[in-house]
Amino acid sequence: MPTTLSQSDLPGLDLIHRGKVRDVYALPGNRLLMVATDRLSAFDVVLPDPIPGKGEMLTQISNFWFGKTGHILPNHLTGDDLASVLPAGVDPALYEKRAVVTKRLKPVPVEAIARGYLIGSGWKDYQATGALCGITLPPGLRQAEKLPEPIFTPSTKAAVGDHDENVSFDAVVAAVGVELANAVRQATLDIYRFAAAYAAERGIIVADTKLEFGTDENGVLHVMDEMLTPDSSRFWPAEGYEVGISPPSYDKQFVRDYLERIGWNKQPPAPKVPADVIQGTADKYAEALDKLAGLRLS
Ligand SMILES: Nc1ncnc2c1ncn2[C@@H]1O[C@H](COP(=O)(O)OP(=O)(O)OP(=O)(O)O)[C@@H](O)[C@H]1O
Ligand SMILES: [Mg+2]
Repeated sequence: MPTTLSQSDLPGLDLIHRGKVRDVYALPGNRLLMVATDRLSAFDVVLPDPIPGKGEMLTQISNFWFGKTGHILPNHLTGDDLASVLPAGVDPALYEKRAVVTKRLKPVPVEAIARGYLIGSGWKDYQATGALCGITLPPGLRQAEKLPEPIFTPSTKAAVGDHDENVSFDAVVAAVGVELANAVRQATLDIYRFAAAYAAERGIIVADTKLEFGTDENGVLHVMDEMLTPDSSRFWPAEGYEVGISPPSYDKQFVRDYLERIGWNKQPPAPKVPADVIQGTADKYAEALDKLAGLRLS
């Protein structure tokens, strides 16, 4: 059975960050313990109800992709055993599928997004300006249409409560320098292309995905945080994909669509979500884990 955990509790460990989804603890040796909770954020606001088992599914999906993409870029996982870092008295069963020990990296301050399809904020920007992050796209594209080729559409990492904002590649260069900006763009597109091809064989479209990167003490670029999860990506069943509509998805688009439907103003606090939408979302995460990684949480 999946466990449910809204908030981690690890006495004696130094909690350095409670993000929307992950609780992050500092460990000796310039490492982190990252715990994926069952919190769900939509439009950058955390919902009041957890999605049972979601953090476990996120961690397992990320681990799967980190393993698959090692030939493209190193990642933040150390491979250290969880049991070696959990405080005495903590039930390991609550954490073993949802926590990882990572290198503590210096974050590259940009959300690195790759898009293969025109949806979400990309679709909105395109409708308004015909361009996306300074990249002019062909005219006449429709919602959810496949782009001629995947594009890198970075956004700023907003402070808590703020929404991320799409920025141009030049803005990334200004922030981190041309060398790092190029490396991040290249890695983002390489990882996206690899994952999109892998998922396509399993009947899943990866419409877009967001990656985060960091550098180690030698300046070596690593991919960190989470990877190609339903939280960071839009997964669509290839079957039923149709241009012109917001496709049904394996991800939190399900919750987003519900929140759009009821006309929530996207300001905190987020409304309670009905039990069937919670369960439906949990089922979607489980389906993504099974279809992409061939894993089931028993
Ligand atoms: N290996 C790493 N080294 C340093 N920081 C990391 C690493 N992996 C992830 N992070 C950071 O840890 C945090 C993970 O928490 P989470 O994903 O819940 O945050 P978030 O809600 O997305 O963003 P915010 O940090 O703004 O709350 C992120 O800020 C992420 O950038
Ligand atoms: Mg995050």
